[in-house]
Amino acid sequence: MCGIVGFTGQKPCVDILIESLRRLEYRGYDSAGIAVFENGTIRTAKAKGKINEGLVPLINRGADDLHTTDFSHQTCGIGHTRWATHGEPSDVNSHPIGNGRVCIVHNGIIENYREIKEFLIGAGYSFESETDTETVVKLLDYYYDGDPIEAIIKVCAEIKGAYALGILFRGFPDTIYAVKKESPLIVGKGNDEIPGNFIASDVAAIMEYTKDYYLLEAGEIAIIRPDSVNFLDIHRRPLHKELRTVDWDISAAKKGGYEHFMLKEIHEQPSVLASSMAVRIKNGLPDFSECGLTREKINSYSRFFIVGCGSAMHAGIVGKNLLEGLGRVPVTVDIASEWRYNDPLLDEHDLCIVISQSGETADTLAALKLAKERGADTLAVVNVVGSTIARAADMVIYMSAGPEISVCSTKAYAVQVEMMYLIAFAVTLAKGKITEEKCREYIAKLQKLPELVSQLLEDKTDYQYAASHIMNAESLLYIGRGLDYALSMEGSLKLKEISYIHSESYAAGELKHGTISLITEDTPVIAVATQTALIDKTVSNIKEVKARGAKVVLVTRETQKIDEKAYDIRVNLPEAADIFMPIITCVPLQLIAYYTAVQRGTDVDMPRNLAKSVTVE
Ligand code: AGP
Ligand code: GLU
Repeated sequence: MCGIVGFTGQKPCVDILIESLRRLEYRGYDSAGIAVFENGTIRTAKAKGKINEGLVPLINRGADDLHTTDFSHQTCGIGHTRWATHGEPSDVNSHPIGNGRVCIVHNGIIENYREIKEFLIGAGYSFESETDTETVVKLLDYYYDGDPIEAIIKVCAEIKGAYALGILFRGFPDTIYAVKKESPLIVGKGNDEIPGNFIASDVAAIMEYTKDYYLLEAGEIAIIRPDSVNFLDIHRRPLHKELRTVDWDISAAKKGGYEHFMLKEIHEQPSVLASSMAVRIKNGLPDFSECGLTREKINSYSRFFIVGCGSAMHAGIVGKNLLEGLGRVPVTVDIASEWRYNDPLLDEHDLCIVISQSGETADTLAALKLAKERGADTLAVVNVVGSTIARAADMVIYMSAGPEISVCSTKAYAVQVEMMYLIAFAVTLAKGKITEEKCREYIAKLQKLPELVSQLLEDKTDYQYAASHIMNAESLLYIGRGLDYALSMEGSLKLKEISYIHSESYAAGELKHGTISLITEDTPVIAVATQTALIDKTVSNIKEVKARGAKVVLVTRETQKIDEKAYDIRVNLPEAADIFMPIITCVPLQLIAYYTAVQRGTDVDMPRNLAKSVTVE
């Protein structure tokens, strides 16, 4: 995915574009650029690397693709921070991409770009970049005869794939055009303080300037001028759209004194866990009637599917464990990019739950659409209000975790797991597997978890100490059984994505079937052991790796009695029932990964090669 911004108004636009792009860098940071109108000409400045590495120095030098330009006074422009899909990160493949008459920024993938490129070459066009995006700008130019809307309508009829486009047309020097399909785009409405209007990939980018915005939908064209915002459908009919207002504060999208967004978001977990569950509990019982997940509907489902990517899928594994363990219902959990191509056995009698923090992950969206095509009911557990997945699902549970800026998911994962508990309790109750009284007991225990998580955040020396022992490892294992295995997957992903150390999560009982051959002197092994019924078996597996030279970091309850010879470092967890341990265990695993990355000096919030939400396949 990448980040798109635009501003047109009564104020200089470049600083607004740069600051807005900075708030979108978590969506991709291979390169960045802006394009602005100056005396009717479109001036572009773009560079490989993060905003502060390439683009800002370029602008400060006043350079651009045509002439030396002072970028201090222009009032209409677009900007882009890229996550490359077609064409390596480079100056020439950076956006904005234009040819003097038309200039665009693009989020998404044009699936038929090759055919379009061949057609345009035949029509006499040449291409400078390796991007799919350049075919769109040249096709716009091909159709542009002075009427931007006509050109946009014709191009949207031809291109296939996902796109959100910000477009400038020479001859319309104060106007930004925008259109989208599957990739997110909002239109911000300015105010007296900042007289002008915006486009952005998400509202966090422009919240500094305005909290009022429109959600652009597929098939709609936005025409954004300094003093007006208009919408047309593809038949050029005017559209009236609802003006929305953001319900959280800009401070939620800032670091708040923490060194990294990730650390801030880890510390937000107690409060967001408490607030997110509060709105889903009525009279001590789980209540999803607002989203339409009623007892009657629950009882109509034969099978349950949980689909997501990365941490979202890991939360789904906990959900499967809870739904099958308590509700005794059959659950399939899978990675969206696999499930969508495996011709899954689901039909109109089933429920497909998709989990996605961003609500924009392409594979998860595709899985959702497949489930709908098969007639299944769909329930989205998402964080971003109005996101594409939220709007495509039959039912939506908003996580209300506030913006998660760090690429590495922490609070969103914890709240996704919490939603799995509430859904599992609702299903178990609806299926008559527990009484309301028992369900209230479960809910009461769930409500105690935020306090237990707070306790874990009081003293971090154990996590820093464990990190210091693994920070130079070439590779390490995370092991566990049952729910502990699910958590070992999440812990391993955290470590890999921000510290760049290879790790693998492994079912502890499976080690002896081959993988234990990897254990040599000082191989670090993070062993998660919280499930009472499995603890003896897990400790046996820990002793097997210890006996072969492993350096064991044991993550277990403070009350758990385990032979000290079985481990080297112990990370203690507060007491809670087995089924509630995942929300507690994930915190030390997040912090061990965090401190390892900090000690290794990696870019914790924007790790290499990653983006916050992968809106491309
Ligand atoms: C988690 O730390 C990763 N950033 C990644 O695995 C993420 O969970 C995955 O890309 C899914 O994103 P989503 O929840 O926005 O769909
Ligand atoms: N496909 C475009 C490119 O590679 C945009 C990628 C994106 O959305 O991040 O430049």
